[in-house]
Amino acid sequence: MTDGRVIFLIPVFNLLFTDSIVGDDLTVYKNSLNVTAGQSVLLPTSYSITYPLKNWPSIEWVTKDDTIVYCSVTNGSLGAEGRPVWVTENTIISPKYQGRVDFFRLNASLFLKDLTEMDTGSYTVRLLMDGNIYKGAIHLWVHQSPAPTDSMVGDNLTVHTSSLNVSVGQSLLLPTTYSISSPAQSWPSIEWAREGQTIVHCSVSNGSIRAKGLPVWVNEKTGISPEYQGRVEFFPLNASLLLKDLSVNDSGTYTVKLLTAKNVIKGTIHVWVQRSPASLEDYITQSRTVIFILRMIGCCITPVVLCLLILCCECR
Ligand SMILES: *[C@@H]1O[C@H](CO)[C@@H](O)[C@H](O)[C@H]1NC(C)=O
Ligand SMILES: *[C@@H]1O[C@H](CO)[C@@H](O)[C@H](O)[C@H]1NC(C)=O
Ligand SMILES: *[C@@H]1O[C@H](CO)[C@@H](O)[C@H](O)[C@H]1NC(C)=O
Ligand SMILES: *[C@@H]1O[C@H](CO)[C@@H](O)[C@H](O)[C@H]1NC(C)=O
Ligand SMILES: *[C@@H]1O[C@H](CO)[C@@H](O)[C@H](O)[C@H]1NC(C)=O
Ligand SMILES: *[C@@H]1O[C@H](CO)[C@@H](O)[C@H](O)[C@H]1NC(C)=O
Ligand SMILES: *[C@@H]1O[C@H](CO)[C@@H](O)[C@H](O)[C@H]1NC(C)=O
Ligand SMILES: *[C@@H]1O[C@H](CO)[C@@H](O)[C@H](O)[C@H]1NC(C)=O
Repeated sequence: MTDGRVIFLIPVFNLLFTDSIVGDDLTVYKNSLNVTAGQSVLLPTSYSITYPLKNWPSIEWVTKDDTIVYCSVTNGSLGAEGRPVWVTENTIISPKYQGRVDFFRLNASLFLKDLTEMDTGSYTVRLLMDGNIYKGAIHLWVHQSPAPTDSMVGDNLTVHTSSLNVSVGQSLLLPTTYSISSPAQSWPSIEWAREGQTIVHCSVSNGSIRAKGLPVWVNEKTGISPEYQGRVEFFPLNASLLLKDLSVNDSGTYTVKLLTAKNVIKGTIHVWVQRSPASLEDYITQSRTVIFILRMIGCCITPVVLCLLILCCECR
C-alpha cells in the first residue's frame, strides 16, 4: 500500500470534516523544536481512544499542504486510559518522504531523519475519529550546522602596520597575515596593488589550515605584473609582500585585498621612500661640482674673450 496515487485521495478527508477541535485525545508534547541540519528529530505525540469505540481512527501528518504520512487503523486493543496496546493499520508514506520518516502507530509520533533547512516549517498532526478531528502542530526550525567550535574564525586579514618610511635602494616588507574560515568552503584570492595598479595576484586552489584559520600550506597560482618582476616577492602563507630596491617613485599607498566567496577584506599601507642621506650628499656634491666647473669655465672664458677683443681692436 505505498502507491503514490492514494495520496491524492487524502484531501477528501480534509474536505469532509471541518478542523474543529473537540477534545484532548491527541497530545502534542512540543510546540516548537530547534534542530541542526543533518540531525533527526522526533515530533512527539500520543493519543488515546475512549470507549465505546465506534470506529478506529485515522492519523495524518501534514506540512506545507503535503501529506507526509496517512495511517488508517483497522483493529487493535486499548490499554489503560484508552492508549492503544496494539493496532493493525494501513500506513501510506508519501513518496517524497520515503526512507526519511518513521511513523509510530501506537502514539502517532513522527520521526524525521536527515533534516535539511528546507524542512523548516509547521507540522500538523490530525487524528480523525468518529467524525471529529483532533489537531495539533509543532513548528520545526532546522538551523544550518555551525562550524566546529575550535575553528570559529571568519575570513580575516591583518595588516601589521599602516605606514612605513624607507630609504632609496632598500627593501621593505609589507607585513600582513590572513586567516580563512574553517572548514574552508572556498579558497581565497589575494591581490596587492599600488595606486590602483596591480602588483601581484594570487589565487589559492587548495591547502590546509590549522586552528585560528592560519594556512599551513597552500596550492596557489601567483602572477606578478611585468613592471614588478624581479622587484617583489610574495609570500602566499601570510600575504606579505617584499619590495626590493626601492626608488622614490615607489612611494604611495599599497592596497592588499583578500577576496573570498563571501566578502572582500581590504587593508592599506602608506610607503614613503625617501632619498637616503647618502644620496642627498651625492646630489649636493654633484651640484657643487657643476657650479665649480661652470665657474672654472667662466674664469677661463673671460680672459679668452678679453684677449680676442684686444686682438680685434689691434687689427683695426
Ligand atoms: C528556534 O529558532 C528560532 C529562529 O532562530 C527562534 O526564533 C526560536 O526562539 C528558537 N526556539 C527555541 C525553543 O530555541
Ligand atoms: C512513541 O513511540 C516510539 C516507539 O515506541 C517511542 O520511541 C517514542 O518515544 C514514543 N513517543 C512518545 C511521545 O511517547
Ligand atoms: C480485531 O482483532 C480481534 C483480536 O485479534 C479479533 O477478534 C477481531 O475479529 C478483529 N476485528 C476485525 C474487524 O478484524
Ligand atoms: C581579525 O584579526 C584581528 C587580529 O588578529 C582581530 O583583532 C579581529 O577581531 C579579527 N576580526 C575578525 C572579524 O575575526
Ligand atoms: C614618514 O615620513 C612622512 C613624511 O616625511 C611623515 O609624515 C611620517 O610621519 C613618517 N612616518 C613614520 C612612521 O616615520
Ligand atoms: C610572512 O612570511 C615570510 C616568509 O615565511 C616571513 O619572512 C615574514 O616574516 C612573514 N610575515 C609576517 C608578518 O608574518
Ligand atoms: C587538496 O589537497 C588534499 C591533500 O593533499 C587532497 O586530498 C585533495 O584532494 C585536494 N583537493 C583538491 C580539490 O585538489
Ligand atoms: C621610477 O623611477 C625609476 C628611475 O628613478 C624609473 O626607472 C622607473 O621606471 C620609475 N617607475 C615608475 C613606476 O614610474
